[in-house]
Amino acid sequence: MNTLTCRLLSPLLSLVAAAALAAEAPPTPDTAYLPAADGAALYVEYCAVCHGSEGRGDGPLAGGLTVKPANLRRLGVSNGSEFPAARIAASIDGRDQPLAHGTREMPIWGEAFKRSQGAYGERRVAERIDALVDYLRRLQER
Ligand code: HEC
Repeated sequence: MNTLTCRLLSPLLSLVAAAALAAEAPPTPDTAYLPAADGAALYVEYCAVCHGSEGRGDGPLAGGLTVKPANLRRLGVSNGSEFPAARIAASIDGRDQPLAHGTREMPIWGEAFKRSQGAYGERRVAERIDALVDYLRRLQER
């Protein structure tokens, strides 16, 4: 190979190599093509069974629990005027929560969302929890 061919060919070869690598790369967790997390839909699917369809803590499973599910319409009121978004997010996630009374009847959603189909790791977990927190914020009674 003369020098000229070499100079023309090597960038071409690295392009081909790059393309081959890209084709072989494992599918990256890309949430771009997934529908955005819908707080209201997530709520109906995962939360209403205990907290009730309107968030009042009166879902069909509520009666069977030792601890009454929280009234999710009054999170602002019972914690001062400001909606405690960060605390609520942590409480829904549950993975970092110390067990104040030794038990937690509320599922650990951070874990459940991570294992659920189409979860795609932490980013998707955070998206779902954020969407739920937003939904709960809108639910607050003033
Ligand atoms: C199996 C029943 C059950 C389900 C399902 C459930 N919860 Fe709960 N939740 C509870 C109970 C009971 C409490 C009261 C405190 C405790 O036991 O942790 C609670 C407490 C909470 C709190 C804490 C309120 C506060 O002031 O700290 C939030 C927020 C909450 N739930 C949101 C949700 C969301 C969002 C979902 C759906 C992703 C959900 N819950 C699903 C039972 C449930």
